[in-house]
Amino acid sequence: MNTQEINQEKAEAFAERMLGVVNEASVALMTSVGHRTGLFDAMAGLAPSTSAQIASAAGRNERYVREWLGAMVTGGIVEYDPENGTYRLPAEHAVWLTRAATPDNLAVTAQWIPLLGSVEDEIVEAFTKGGGVPYSAYPRFHQVMAEESAQTVVAALNGSILPLVDGLVGRLESGIDALDVGSGSGRAVNFVAGVYPNSRYDISEEGVSRARAEAEKQGLTNASFEVRDAAALGESERYDLITTFDVIHDQARPAAVLAGIAAALRPGGVYLMQDIAGSSHVEKNLEHPLGPFTYTISTMHCMTVSLAQGGAGLGAMWGEEKAREMLADAGFGTVEVRQLPHDFINNYYIVRKS
Ligand SMILES: C[S@@+](CC[C@H](N)C(=O)[O-])C[C@H]1O[C@@H](n2cnc3c(N)ncnc32)[C@H](O)[C@@H]1O
Repeated sequence: MNTQEINQEKAEAFAERMLGVVNEASVALMTSVGHRTGLFDAMAGLAPSTSAQIASAAGRNERYVREWLGAMVTGGIVEYDPENGTYRLPAEHAVWLTRAATPDNLAVTAQWIPLLGSVEDEIVEAFTKGGGVPYSAYPRFHQVMAEESAQTVVAALNGSILPLVDGLVGRLESGIDALDVGSGSGRAVNFVAGVYPNSRYDISEEGVSRARAEAEKQGLTNASFEVRDAAALGESERYDLITTFDVIHDQARPAAVLAGIAAALRPGGVYLMQDIAGSSHVEKNLEHPLGPFTYTISTMHCMTVSLAQGGAGLGAMWGEEKAREMLADAGFGTVEVRQLPHDFINNYYIVRKS
């Protein structure tokens, strides 16, 4: 037992904080439910309404909706008028919580909390046994990732991400060969392929069936999709542009993936790597706006899916220092790091061989 004297004031302040943590975590879980059930979308279009009216507008069960509204009112998300028994989602909140608010819909991001919680038992076990939890244990991962990616990547590709690389938009217009590694549901590729019909896109990834279906729906003939292990690309000087969006830190063999990307780039080509912003040193992340969230998503997903394959387990917070070191080891000569105002969670690394 630690015999250190307890500062009573500090202890009480901490207890208060922890109660706040439990409340805010509950709000996050109920925010995810509000998104998935369409309740925020329904409420945004309604005047102050009763729980029955809201349930009917969203096509949901009134008893559940009323209990959810209790959490939303006490959590400060929804306003309640006890005289009329009506609930209202303020417009100032709706602009961060509805599908119409995309790409600013934070309810999409709140879904990570229950998604990560769904593997808590397996993670607790791994704290003793080691190893990891495989991708297959997260049935909603690809869906939530695609929603998140639509907001942080797709919505900003043309306006701000692609213009980060000098001359890239012009080259895409005239036609280049591009590869997106670890593309999830392929939304970024299909978007860029649609905007730049002269360029050709390959993706290498697991979720190709969704990506193919989407490309077919859009009538794209310049995007092709392949299931391939990113650690064994085996290509030589074949692409002018290679992208990875939120991929490298999850990899079982990240060094092999980066070396394969370096080999696959043509001379003069560029590798654009989006990855979590942060330092490799925890003490430098104290001011990180989403520090607890990024280490949590790492423990509960990014690090563990890599460890499940006997991999490196870099984790989401591998940090800029480690990223630069690994890029240099892979044979890249220049690395420029940029950030974009819409996406403070990520760094954009503009990487060239020389
Ligand atoms: C965090 S997700 C990012 C997905 C996508 N880039 C996006 O922004 O939506 C990481 C992706 O890497 C893929 N991945 C992991 N290991 C891989 C490997 N060895 N080869 C190819 N893809 C891999 C996963 O299936 C997953 O779709």
